[in-house]
Amino acid sequence: TEGGTTEQKRRAGEAAAAHVEDGMVVGLGTGSTAAHAIRALGSTVDGGCEIHGVATSFASKMLAREVGIPLRSLDTVEELDLTIDGADQVVTETGACIKGGGAAHAREKIVASISSELFIVADPSKVTETLDRSVPIEVLPAARTSVTAALTKHGGTATLREATKKDGPVVTDNGNFVLDCSFGAIGGPRSLGETLSSIPGVVEHGLFTGLATAVYVGTAKDVTCYEI
Ligand code: A5P
Repeated sequence: TEGGTTEQKRRAGEAAAAHVEDGMVVGLGTGSTAAHAIRALGSTVDGGCEIHGVATSFASKMLAREVGIPLRSLDTVEELDLTIDGADQVVTETGACIKGGGAAHAREKIVASISSELFIVADPSKVTETLDRSVPIEVLPAARTSVTAALTKHGGTATLREATKKDGPVVTDNGNFVLDCSFGAIGGPRSLGETLSSIPGVVEHGLFTGLATAVYVGTAKDVTCYEI
């Protein structure tokens, strides 16, 4: 949530939500920017548009209920028309991004992977030429030490994400832990992602490549759409 302004995030979220049409099944992302899209979709539903949402986290499920979007459970859904989600860092030319700042990236990636379209919504502080933030990696709790050692072998420096309002680690909606792993500048996000996926005990990592079909970046006055 750091960096961008509420106004920038709102413009991005609302511009993406404007593409939702009657009858669509829509993936609802997680985070403060996706929340603007979810609220806009609530207004669309109020206006008579019949859609169903698929939430990517407990938080987005709660917000969708609050604004009146009928929901389908991810475990019953084979495909979606469109997903609108935020990112922690994004390359607008390729749509490659780092996600998982809210520890929701495992469900976010499943939803994105079965969506015909994935619109990433962001403010300018998220845009970069080269991904270089730490990569969130959801791991089975029993594998935290073995995965940390494997990441070190692959040139990463991993730390277990600690909760801020409880003693101990963050526990995801799936009951797992999150390692935040720094690799410096990531030249080849796709191949790094394949490497991370091959480590036993990794549930999902936050590198999203080949998924986004458009990136909406909200600015002070308007929105720029980058089609991939
Ligand atoms: C959730 O795990 C992330 O992938 C979010 O999509 C990301 O943290 C974006 O959140 P903000 O829009 O609040 O920055």
